Amino acid sequence: AGRGLVDRFGRRITYARLSVTDRCDLRCVYCMSEQMTFLPRSQLLTLEEMARLGRCFSELGVSKLRVTGGEPLVRPNVLWLFERLGELAGIRDLTLTTNGTLLGRYAKSLKDAGVTRVNISLDTLSPDRFRRITRVGRIERTLAGIDAALRVGFRRIKLNAVVLKNRNHDEVVELVRFAIARGVDISFIEEMPLGVIGEHDRAEAYYSSDAIRRDLAEHFDLVPSIDRTGGPSHYYNIAGEETRVGFISPHGHNFCGDCNRVRVTAQGRLLLCLGQEHSADLRRVLRAHPTDDERARQAILAAMALKPRGHEFDLGAEPVVFRYMNSTGG
Ligand code: GTP
Ligand code: 5AD
Ligand code: SF4
Repeated sequence: AGRGLVDRFGRRITYARLSVTDRCDLRCVYCMSEQMTFLPRSQLLTLEEMARLGRCFSELGVSKLRVTGGEPLVRPNVLWLFERLGELAGIRDLTLTTNGTLLGRYAKSLKDAGVTRVNISLDTLSPDRFRRITRVGRIERTLAGIDAALRVGFRRIKLNAVVLKNRNHDEVVELVRFAIARGVDISFIEEMPLGVIGEHDRAEAYYSSDAIRRDLAEHFDLVPSIDRTGGPSHYYNIAGEETRVGFISPHGHNFCGDCNRVRVTAQGRLLLCLGQEHSADLRRVLRAHPTDDERARQAILAAMALKPRGHEFDLGAEPVVFRYMNSTGG
């Protein structure tokens, strides 16, 4: 208490993202290579270790936790973790990023555990395209997951769409209509170059947030909003509608200047920036001091000195980050 997390650039860290698994039931082309090998169980943090980290972050002034993956809901017993995180004083926002396929089963229990918001990935409304983008998925399951989240009463559900030229860029208007019809928000995301994905050319697939905004402006009256969720999205309201449209634009508009977040990989590596390798090994500290959280808190505090100014994503160059998104948690 009294010792918030502040980095060298004066940025206050109040948002921690915890990846609970690198596994996923989908294989999105921008996220993974087709033949992924996943981490052996022994390398992953246990759920108990993640709950400890959640507690440490909350004691260090973090007020927003987001559970990510891979797909968080494929981790066995993950509800136990949500229940522990839901009990933490000081966590005002307990959130989840999911592909939605398992929400039909888990939405109610997540709500009961104290999850405040869910972000659900949906890049297209076409079953064929969904299959091509996720390589193995069926859109019906994700759509059913969205309905389940609505049914159990989640508020401010947000859809995430990674926009790729020639795969789904021509669907942004329809996706916004879908969001409006369900009273949910939607963010459009520029793809980030993490890991090397053989058959997928990222420079070729680039479609900018500015282009999306132009496409949308032909159909909707977009009004810039000052609302922020504490994430990287910049929002617009649609005149007359509840739905907000967000843009996550690592290439077009850099948002690192007001970065407020860090993430922990499924292996317990504290990453200070999504687009850089600066990190601290929290798994080692947790395992060396199984009953002393002060050591873990110290390690997190010390790591703030490593947080870089920002990412240096460059679609024209070879990737500099070899981790894939699924082990990073976005
Ligand atoms: P909200 O709480 O709704 O604002 O969520 P969020 O946008 O912070 O999280 P979400 O998991 O929905 O992530 C949406 C996209 O933002 C993903 O593609 C993430 O990889 C990306 N993202 C989140 N934080 C960062 C960041 O610090 N840097 C970069 N480059 N991308 C980020
Ligand atoms: N670039 C941008 N977003 C990505 N996601 C996965 N891989 C990438 C990438 N390379 C998105 C997912 C999900 C969120 C957590 O990150 O679609 O919505
Ligand atoms: Fe799974 Fe999400 Fe990666 Fe798609 S983007 S493969 S749903 S972790």
